[in-house]
Amino acid sequence: DFMHEAMGLSVLERQLKEKLQLNAIMVVPGNSDSHDWVKQEMGKACVTYLKKRIKSAQTVAVTGGTTMAAVAEMMVPLDDGADCLFIPARGGIGEKEENQANTIVAKMARKARGDYRLLYVPDPLSETAYQTIIKEPAVNETLQRVKSASVVLHGIGDAMTMARRRKTPEDVTAQLKENHAVSEAFGYYFDGNGNVVHKVRTIGIQLDDLDSVDQVITVAGGHSKANAIASYFNKGKRDMLITDEAAAEEILKM
Ligand code: BG6
Repeated sequence: DFMHEAMGLSVLERQLKEKLQLNAIMVVPGNSDSHDWVKQEMGKACVTYLKKRIKSAQTVAVTGGTTMAAVAEMMVPLDDGADCLFIPARGGIGEKEENQANTIVAKMARKARGDYRLLYVPDPLSETAYQTIIKEPAVNETLQRVKSASVVLHGIGDAMTMARRRKTPEDVTAQLKENHAVSEAFGYYFDGNGNVVHKVRTIGIQLDDLDSVDQVITVAGGHSKANAIASYFNKGKRDMLITDEAAAEEILKM
């Protein structure tokens, strides 16, 4: 629209789309590091996009985080997405309740008038617990649905910020530093070139599963996440990025 044009956001969008080799992009004004309403604007943009794309009875897998929580906050009934199912993309992460994928999918489903499933699985998970838990029929049923998701909504985090937030053990944190971890998504940590340097073991979507997902929608913004976003998109699946002006400008300086 006119405002968009006037603020030069469409120019930013064109340049960033080119730089990150994305299929589609949306840049909202402002910096979500300093204003929560900017995160909500990204959430609104995500909902608008989802509303246009979603078809009846599709499964939407969602990660945790404050950005996804903002998407849930802005969710509206999805006309063509009647009977859609919201499901956590991965096992629960030791985060604040309001930022966990389980909480977020329940809220999204309520507002979208869809359904949801929960995945109450600790993260990280020991190898033995992992082997046992995936055999549980209830967990397995949910996992099959996660694997057949046609839409994935996810955030990206700054690697060290996420390591701190997850109360990552010191030896793992040291290893992340040594391997120059820059970004985090889906419990995977990536270096500046987008190579995986660490992975939190849990059930749910694995990176390779994204190849067969129809629409992967990434929502991440803020000046502080510029490096993380650029790092993730060196290799990460790129359908749609919703970000903010501050992150976009910073990435274009690189
Ligand atoms: C976490 C996700 O819950 O949120 C991560 O598991 C993601 O994959 C992170 O990177 C992003 O959090 P926020 O609060 O910056 O949106």
